[in-house]
Amino acid sequence: MSEKIRKQQQVKTSELDSLIEKLNSFSTDNYWDLGKFLVDKFLPAALKEGIFGEQAMKMLSSQPGCKFPYSMLKQCQQFYTYFPDVEKRPLAEIFYFDLATKVDDTTKRREYEKLAIQNKWTISDLRKKINDDELARRQDEKTKYGFDLKEKNFWSFDAADPRFGKPNYKGRIPGQVVANLLFYYTKQGDYLIDPFAGSGTFGDVVDAVPIFQDRKYKMYDIEPADSRINRNNVLQTGIPEQTTSVDFVLLDPPSEFFPQTSDSSFMISTAKAETMLKLKGVVRETSRILKQGGRVSMIIEPTIVGNEMIDFPGEVSNLFKEFGLKQIGQVYMPRRSDSSKANKFGEKAMVSEIREILTFEKI
Ligand SMILES: C[S@@+](CC[C@H](N)C(=O)[O-])C[C@H]1O[C@@H](n2cnc3c(N)ncnc32)[C@H](O)[C@@H]1O
Repeated sequence: MSEKIRKQQQVKTSELDSLIEKLNSFSTDNYWDLGKFLVDKFLPAALKEGIFGEQAMKMLSSQPGCKFPYSMLKQCQQFYTYFPDVEKRPLAEIFYFDLATKVDDTTKRREYEKLAIQNKWTISDLRKKINDDELARRQDEKTKYGFDLKEKNFWSFDAADPRFGKPNYKGRIPGQVVANLLFYYTKQGDYLIDPFAGSGTFGDVVDAVPIFQDRKYKMYDIEPADSRINRNNVLQTGIPEQTTSVDFVLLDPPSEFFPQTSDSSFMISTAKAETMLKLKGVVRETSRILKQGGRVSMIIEPTIVGNEMIDFPGEVSNLFKEFGLKQIGQVYMPRRSDSSKANKFGEKAMVSEIREILTFEKI
């Protein structure tokens, strides 16, 4: 039994027991009282048992019968910590709850309080202002870097940024995807390779976004769409780059590499084996050309044929691990709806609408 679990069990028999029982006496409209209880009573008692702040609240929320989730306990704790004097403050309590839980910065919280008093804001006014400021901050970020920076691992874009890639090119990805990958996984002076360059989205991003202009890149494709792209068939000649010379590779393989939804279930296992053979060659080549610490991001999704699903993201993860890389990222990206792929009415099978971008690092 781990030390942590043993401690948690001992705790149940200690003074904490009665505090845990008391917790459910709080109703959801006295968040501040609950915060006070947590900060003044529960957390010090938990500390005596060797359980620290966040861990103690997580343990508390997982007790059977506890009606408050961890996120709520944390909000209440923040509320009381930031505004222990809430009764003496000029605005209604709800303003301070929102400020404590939505605004991280102390100076900003003071500014919002001042503005709310001066302008006689309602709580909706405050919420709107916090929201607008957050949107403006994100917009600033966008202009600061020159593209739509995503902060979470779900990358959805309303439209492809027209500066990157050629319009109407089949299989083109939004350039914002490339920009985000370069932002998170490359550094100044890196040497980058795109072996499936398609419409040249990759090169357009490096050329057009100022923060990436110090990176050098080369693009390849079996059918080059412009003069910056070198002709190469990955399956026949691999990736024509020196061993351990590359810092980052983007892999956006063509749909022809994967089983087609029109394949019969009878053909599916052969089709899967063929795909895995192709992917294995690409992964082997990528691992060869990457420097130690170099990264590769691959755009991939499961294939669903009838009632069968082939988990290609899982399969390539294993392949990369086999070739000495560890996974460092996973992003989800909705496919812009392609109605021709959708099922006919009455057919009970789903199609894949979410692509994954898996990133690996060479150990
Ligand atoms: C999904 S597209 C890439 C799109 C690209 N990321 C963009 O934004 O335009 C895949 C590309 O792989 C190329 N391709 C197909 N088979 C190939 C092979 N054996 N070797 C190299 N490229 C290949 C296709 O010509 C196609 O341009």
